[in-house]
Amino acid sequence: MLIFKRPVNASLLAKQPLDRRRDTLLPGHPAAFYSGAGEGSRTLAEVTLATTGSSLRAALGTAPGPPRPPRSRWALRFAPATRRGLAASARGGGLRSPQGPAARPANANAPRRRPAGGRRGGGGRFGRSAARPSGMAAAAAAALALGGGLLLAAWRWLRGAARAAAGASMRGKTVIITGANSGLGRAAAAELLRMRARVIMGCRDRARAERAAREIRAELGERAEAEGGGELVVRELDLASLRSVRAFCHRVLQEEPRLDVLINNAGIFQCPYMKTEDGFEMQFGVNHLGHFLLTNLLLGLLKNSAPSRIVVVSSKLYKYGEINFEDLNSEISYNKSFCYSRSKLANILFARELARRLEGTGVTVNSLHPGIVRTNLGRYVNIPLLAKPLFNLVSWAFFKTPLEGAQTSIYLASSPDVEGVSGKYFGDCKEEELLPKAMDDLVARKLWDISEVMVGLLK
Ligand SMILES: NC(=O)c1ccc[n+]([C@@H]2O[C@H](COP(=O)([O-])OP(=O)(O)OC[C@H]3O[C@@H](n4cnc5c(N)ncnc54)[C@H](OP(=O)(O)O)[C@@H]3O)[C@@H](O)[C@H]2O)c1
Repeated sequence: MLIFKRPVNASLLAKQPLDRRRDTLLPGHPAAFYSGAGEGSRTLAEVTLATTGSSLRAALGTAPGPPRPPRSRWALRFAPATRRGLAASARGGGLRSPQGPAARPANANAPRRRPAGGRRGGGGRFGRSAARPSGMAAAAAAALALGGGLLLAAWRWLRGAARAAAGASMRGKTVIITGANSGLGRAAAAELLRMRARVIMGCRDRARAERAAREIRAELGERAEAEGGGELVVRELDLASLRSVRAFCHRVLQEEPRLDVLINNAGIFQCPYMKTEDGFEMQFGVNHLGHFLLTNLLLGLLKNSAPSRIVVVSSKLYKYGEINFEDLNSEISYNKSFCYSRSKLANILFARELARRLEGTGVTVNSLHPGIVRTNLGRYVNIPLLAKPLFNLVSWAFFKTPLEGAQTSIYLASSPDVEGVSGKYFGDCKEEELLPKAMDDLVARKLWDISEVMVGLLK
């Protein structure tokens, strides 16, 4: 057994004079010196020895030990026998024999001196070189990562298990969901179809919507539609075009005898400054004005189908918005975050004002925030390429899945718990408090009046 004061490199050592070579050996281990049981060590030096044994021995000018079966580095590091062997040498007694501990050498009680050079260079006491602490650290890190990963996966599984309206039936009900080809809208469409609703997917891109519909059908195994009740219908609806909104509503009014639920879900987030077909700032135009016109044009059908529901998907980010009436089109200044927040504040003010106007009609209106959800909403947000893997990991671990995020929409659309509840704001299927700015009825009325003019409902 060869034990070194510090890790050695065989080929470099071979170039040293013999004295210097012998000097690399740890003093006080003559028995180990010739034992030839090099595999007993887990030091970096011994790993080197294991692979270049004979040349190293020649370099040291020592007699070769008995031939050893080839062993992998892995085995050298982790075989318990090798740990015992090293521990025995470390206690100063050479290798522990199978029959019992070896006799302690004369210098066993001498004070042990820590070799110079610190943990890495000197290898600590008795040849415990860099390999041991770094190996242990790596093993600890791997165990931590594995344990953490398992905990996270279990937590995610538990979190995702609850379904807001499990078991509820929507058979015979017609639901319109805007932006149903992606994210929350797609998840809500699949769930409501599972509950046997006739789901009209109002989407701006027909091809994307058809693909989403095909995928949903494949996920549900075509059962929901085939077994009666449930149906998926794709209709074109571009909320950035008042003409498209009107055409969509016209067709719905012609074809649908009833409308039980309207989910205003589609949204655009923090895009660069763009205008809708009608010249409105894009986020205000799609998130608020397009839905404002859509809802108003479908109100008659919703009232005729009462009890019916309107669900407005807003966001907690409404807190950072203001309704700046003097620049609703953001022509004086444009800040993409502010404009998203403003459009989401407008969603809540609209829902509350509409609820007030619909009192006694049997049509309820509620708004919600879905939480932070892993969807395509951030398509305009630039994440540096190098930060993407970290972002993906964090979003996988901590963001909701679309199905989790859609639970409050599904709850408000289908649960008997919220029958007759109107004008409220929800998160995680529970009613939540709003900031005063979202409950300002004067601002809500003024926004309503101006929106009516902007979309051409009032000339
Ligand atoms: N994800 C979150 O963390 C989060 C948080 C708070 C609130 N929200 C709200 O949740 C709602 C759904 O967003 P998401 O997260 O599911 O995002 P998403 O995956 O991007 O889905 C948004 C949907 O809106 C559609 N859309 C965009 N512009 C449209 C237009 N002009 N006309 C018709 N449809 C349009 C998109 O269609 P294309 O696929 O064709 O673009 C897409 O289907 C949004 O209102 C958003 O503000 C989301």
